[in-house]
Amino acid sequence: MKRQYYQDVRNGSTRDPRFRKGQERSGKVLSLHDIEEFNGNFPEFTRPKNVGSFSLDVHRNYQNDYSELRYLSMPPETSNAGSCKVRFDLRKGVSSVIEKDEESIRQKMLDDLLTFILHERKAEHPSIVDCNHPLKPLLVEFICYRGLLTMLIATPYESQENWTILATRFQNSIYLWQLKDKQQRNGFNSNPKQQEMSIWGFKFEQYLCASSPEASPTPEEQLNTNAEFCCVLKTRIGGHPLLYGAEVDAVIKGTQPPFADLQNFVELKTNRHISNERQHVSFKRFKSMKWWAQSFIVGIPKIVVGYRDDDGIVSRLETMDVDHLRKQSNDWWKSNICMNFCLQFLKFVKECIPKESNPNAHFIFEFDAMSRVVTFRNEAGEAGSRNLLPSWYIQSMENPV
Ligand code: A3P
Ligand code: MG
Repeated sequence: MKRQYYQDVRNGSTRDPRFRKGQERSGKVLSLHDIEEFNGNFPEFTRPKNVGSFSLDVHRNYQNDYSELRYLSMPPETSNAGSCKVRFDLRKGVSSVIEKDEESIRQKMLDDLLTFILHERKAEHPSIVDCNHPLKPLLVEFICYRGLLTMLIATPYESQENWTILATRFQNSIYLWQLKDKQQRNGFNSNPKQQEMSIWGFKFEQYLCASSPEASPTPEEQLNTNAEFCCVLKTRIGGHPLLYGAEVDAVIKGTQPPFADLQNFVELKTNRHISNERQHVSFKRFKSMKWWAQSFIVGIPKIVVGYRDDDGIVSRLETMDVDHLRKQSNDWWKSNICMNFCLQFLKFVKECIPKESNPNAHFIFEFDAMSRVVTFRNEAGEAGSRNLLPSWYIQSMENPV
């Protein structure tokens, strides 16, 4: 595998208006011009370990409990292979849905994950903190959310969507957060129909999820997409320890917390019926990679798919094996290319951010899908935009528990 990833460039573009001033562009870039450069052996990737969890309630308040954990409740007639005929109307109650507060998500950045980390540091969690050191520093090099990793993994095959990542180094760790513009935060829902369709996925979850192992799903209840159950995982990619939060959909009945890993969790997904070869190829080329990346990175082995029509009626459930998704799409995308890029990006970040960097300094990494490069710049910040790491977190971490 060639190792010539970093090249020199003279300029680049910045899109986030909050981070335009005071920039100092570096000459370093990570190139994706030839993704065959990433076609080496699959990098070392240890089985993701679940180190803990938390809930976000309907007001997006942090709860140190399992209150938002949901149990998968498949219809009784489901076959052993996990398929079944159903009739779920995803438009039911759609006008009264309370949608996720994107502004709150934007403002809170990594705060919920940081709250979790402080709890675990206090509890002296040996996988997360160095308990032998008086300051109990973290034992991880990178901290982020799963969505950012899914996006990185898919980047070698991304030809349309740009992305921007904000990074800060503090003590032994680098914290990463994806900056989204308004359009990206709203999920590219440019018209009311698309906006409605973005709710269908959550409605589908409501048809299959129950709040306890004994309970049944309650699709007639008002849907509030703010509520989440979030697992925090630890893994190593190419020897680099990584800690990341992931919203998870459901656990299968018969398993009780605490969970050592996500082997018994499932991801729930909707998809339009695939009825011709063109749609089949499109699924294998694009969607299967995103689905694989999202589940693989947290160690979820199964996806329950609801096939729907254009009116939002799901008529069939099918359970897919995540590893099978990878195998059946080998002609279209390669998991080793995806994961090698992810690893090279993390190394690039580590190399770009000075070791002595302070926790108020920000660095920006931008992928431009047209020019196929990731550029890096030092960001001096701008009045009005908050730091990625809040002072309550920095102060806590700088003092003994
Ligand atoms: P589907 O994936 O079934 O469409 P996730 O499964 O990733 O937890 O997401 C749950 C649902 O959120 C999705 O269900 C979809 O309805 C909505 N969603 C997630 N990402 C989206 C995006 N980029 N644009 C629009 N809707 C999105
Ligand atoms: Mg889902």
